Amino acid sequence: MKRVLLIVGGGIAAYKACELIRLLRKRGHAVRCVLTEGGSHFVTPMTLAALSEDKVYTSLWDLKDEAEMGHIQLSREADLVVVAPATADLLARMAAGVADDLATTLLLATDKPVLAAPAMNVRMWSHAATQRNVATLRGDGVTVLEPDEGAMACGEYGAGRLPEPDAVAAAIDRALAPVERRLSGKHVLVTAGPTHEPIDPVRYLANRSSGRQGFAIAGALADIGARVTLVSGPVTLPTPSGVTRVDVETAKQMAEAVERALPADAAVMVAAVADWRVDAAPQKVKKGSAPPALVLTENPDILAGLARHPSRPRLVVGFAAETEQVLEYAAAKRVRKGVDWIVANDVSGDVMGGDANTVHLVTANGIESWERLPKSTVAARLAERIADALEEPS
Ligand code: C5P
Repeated sequence: MKRVLLIVGGGIAAYKACELIRLLRKRGHAVRCVLTEGGSHFVTPMTLAALSEDKVYTSLWDLKDEAEMGHIQLSREADLVVVAPATADLLARMAAGVADDLATTLLLATDKPVLAAPAMNVRMWSHAATQRNVATLRGDGVTVLEPDEGAMACGEYGAGRLPEPDAVAAAIDRALAPVERRLSGKHVLVTAGPTHEPIDPVRYLANRSSGRQGFAIAGALADIGARVTLVSGPVTLPTPSGVTRVDVETAKQMAEAVERALPADAAVMVAAVADWRVDAAPQKVKKGSAPPALVLTENPDILAGLARHPSRPRLVVGFAAETEQVLEYAAAKRVRKGVDWIVANDVSGDVMGGDANTVHLVTANGIESWERLPKSTVAARLAERIADALEEPS
């Protein structure tokens, strides 16, 4: 039996929470409800108590509850915290880390996964502020479901309806399903992001890598139990949960951090390492009559170095971002660098910074082309393949 803590927010869709409780109970889950002040205008504590066959919690200031069960305990004894309906206001307060009532305090105090099913007017859903809050929450690891499209209680039409209760219940089952921790006990090293190579104290050479694919891979590896060291160049991404992050700026620093992170069972080098560094000027270069010439020196190839290293990880995976002849270059790179796999991608489109990626996995056995997938799915698939490879007898 799994325990769901269901936070019912204040919206007309709150009535669907009643059906959701019934479905979850039918699946054998225990449901304990928290009703917000807004929610209590749409459904009563009595209804939720009758359906959940449990006490319903409404106020942080209910001292009796604090004596019997503190809000911290309430937030942690569940296996999953579900917010349905999640109103625009509740999502905003969650994203900001506000804790001014029982629901938001529980959400800030919990150490359990959180799933939110939004429901609101179409304009409120599509508003930049709500979209920003949803992106923040997803970055924080909250599963935010996409609302349904359709006619709304307010008479408008569009995206913002609470997904049907059986769809929310199915998402809850997915979130509660035990993940196989196939990589537990394994250490995987991941590099991600660009490197910055200083020209002088205020300027640098860089590239367009956002770090998103590498961060997704680090997160996916941690999700299936790996101990992950993520060596990251300068990016603006949150650290995936369960990942140890080492921030660096230059290729030289990245090479040193990789060396320090060894030994590892596998390494996935996703970073777009600058090929050259500049003989940097100690002071800011002033504008003069002629533009200065930059003297470039080749950076160490971290991936090739790791493939030859005395403590070479068992599986070394490189990335190859190409704009032409992707497969030919990638296959040649695999051999030249002495690595096991190359994940090749065509970066002539909007891959850099975008959400999706089309990749080809180049191994000693040949080339596998994957369909265009969200970077998170590419990451999850690659993590499973890494687990397969490390499970093979060496
Ligand atoms: O040679 P190229 O830069 O195309 O190779 C890309 C692969 O090599 C990526 O996996 C990248 O992380 C890695 N690399 C590296 N150090 C470098 C250059 C590339 O680790 N200096």
